[in-house]
Amino acid sequence: VTYSGDYADIITQGKEAELRHIHENLYAKKGQGSDFLGWLDWTSGLSEDFLNQLKTAAERIRKQADVLIVIGIGGSYLGAKAVIEALQPHFEKNPEFEVLFAGHQVSGSYLKQLMNYIEDKEVALNVISKSGTTTEPALAFRFLQKYMEDRYGNEAASRIYVTTDAEKGALLSLAKEKGYNRFVVPSDIGGRYSVFTSVGLLPIAAAGFDTEQLVNGAHAAEKELQAFDVHDNPAIRYAAVRHDLYEKGYTNEVLATFEPKLSFVQEWWKQLFGESEGKDHKGIFPISVVYTTDLHSLGQYIQDGKRNLLESFLVVDEVDEDLTVFEAENDADQLNYLAGTSLHDFNLVAYKGVSEAHLSGGVSQIGIHMKKLDEYHLGYLLYFYMLSCAYSAYLLDINPFNQPGVEDYKTAIFRLLKKPGY
Ligand code: PA5
Repeated sequence: VTYSGDYADIITQGKEAELRHIHENLYAKKGQGSDFLGWLDWTSGLSEDFLNQLKTAAERIRKQADVLIVIGIGGSYLGAKAVIEALQPHFEKNPEFEVLFAGHQVSGSYLKQLMNYIEDKEVALNVISKSGTTTEPALAFRFLQKYMEDRYGNEAASRIYVTTDAEKGALLSLAKEKGYNRFVVPSDIGGRYSVFTSVGLLPIAAAGFDTEQLVNGAHAAEKELQAFDVHDNPAIRYAAVRHDLYEKGYTNEVLATFEPKLSFVQEWWKQLFGESEGKDHKGIFPISVVYTTDLHSLGQYIQDGKRNLLESFLVVDEVDEDLTVFEAENDADQLNYLAGTSLHDFNLVAYKGVSEAHLSGGVSQIGIHMKKLDEYHLGYLLYFYMLSCAYSAYLLDINPFNQPGVEDYKTAIFRLLKKPGY
């Protein structure tokens, strides 16, 4: 994690003591929301048995189906979506086996078209909801469960995989009653911190990606980022810089990347930080952009609009596939000056140029570098963000693990829909 300002200025004695206090409470599992710190050392406790069980289920799903529909919203879908989008090819995503998502919005046309699309494909469902009562996935499941029962009859149950709490919720009762395959969301891990549990790992394994490497990356992060080193621990550095800038009035963070495959990692990050920090009228508002696309839209605002923005760049240092600009005979497009430059090199230069320009426009810069876009480094990155988010929220004196604010809109909708009890 790099910073355009002077990091040493941020780490006063008082700040270091505050961070130490947060660190000690975090690892002693004390403090606000500490009942939801299961994710902190989750990968250390993962058994081979558990991973094998998930792998076996994923293989079974791939054998019985051409399409897995993952039904969930918020933390119950964004982790898997982020990892799958980051790793799958841009085109021909996976002609033999697809993972599709539902229940992350309420759209009749989406569900109708989805049911048409799967008509001549073999289908399995993974419905994910920790509470087991969230309306959007429950609604999608009502339609898709009927679809499965109409189409597969008694065989439907063997094609439905339910990931929910071990002890409570409407989805659990239904799964028990119908004899669906069951996976557990640990009670001490909230949705947006659950990507390394069955919530994320089952769909990711079914999509054909290496969950062991993903977990290995997260485990390496868990071990390495445990050190209390205010200067070198990137999770602490990122939280400390954000907090300092927030206190100086930078209340919006733009997460920028030049890698389009990371756009759902950005969505996951927005949910993680937005839902964890945005409470008690505090917190940085998370926004995301993909460059260079958005340099031709939001770039203008970032350079020149209201000055309350900080910008963090998520940079992939090495790429697997690239193209190098060649010399054209007549140079009609006047691009010969780029001959010999690869498109990745172009982006690295663009990163430098954009960050210089935005800095001169008053936008402070944070750089977050990941070596490669693969399972291991993604696992590392996601754990890094979760840990840093906990530090960040605690620096604001906020419980990172609840989301009381999302109840208000639900109550209003339920009242308008005349749900019994509202
Ligand atoms: O991060 C969270 O806790 C939330 O975003 C939840 O994941 C989301 O509201 C879905 O909840 P549930 O899994 O209970 O359906």
